[in-house]
Amino acid sequence: MHPALKIRCADSSDLANVTALEESLFGYLSYPFYLFRQVHEAYRSTFYVAEDAGGIVGYVIAIPAEDGITGWFWSVGVHADHVRKGIGQGLVEHTLRGMRSSGIKQAFLSVDPGNSAAIALYTKVGFRVARTEIDYLGPGEDRLIMEVAIS
Ligand SMILES: CC(C)(COP(=O)(O)OP(=O)(O)OC[C@H]1O[C@@H](n2cnc3c(N)ncnc32)[C@H](O)[C@@H]1OP(=O)(O)O)[C@@H](O)C(=O)NCCC(=O)NCCS
Repeated sequence: MHPALKIRCADSSDLANVTALEESLFGYLSYPFYLFRQVHEAYRSTFYVAEDAGGIVGYVIAIPAEDGITGWFWSVGVHADHVRKGIGQGLVEHTLRGMRSSGIKQAFLSVDPGNSAAIALYTKVGFRVARTEIDYLGPGEDRLIMEVAIS
């Protein structure tokens, strides 16, 4: 990742920009502002943004599960003008380090089976496909569930 890029915890003034970026990447399946607001209230230590001099270029949200030893990535996105610069990998690895220091032992995520860019990223950082869930996000929205052990 370019040294001019910084990963930091999201603050409340980032939420509108994160929502706009999410909408540009996920369309009708994007999370709304109010969800980002509420997630930020409850889980701000695993809600990160990547920023350069021009503003927010990526974000990641991960949520610990109630068992205290697993966690889920909820969303990862990088602005289309900034892909293939290591930002997505930087965000995911940063989050995995944060999970490790919180005692989380295993991370999960869901991904569209056709999203080869995301699958390649997650595979590169150590995830493997655990299973396929048919209609996971509703009719016709199958998802792969990927997992990684955090040691
Ligand atoms: C998926 C996404 C987050 C990747 O972010 P990124 O910043 O471009 O990824 P990186 O530059 O850190 O790439 C890391 C590695 O992932 C893989 N990768 C990323 N994009 C890829 C692509 N389009 N094709 C093939 N491999 C890709 C490569 O192995 C890459 O390493 P390399 O550049 O050394 O070859 C970004 O494309 C995105 O926001 N997509 C839309 C939203 C989305 O699908 N989010 C994930 C939902 S589960």
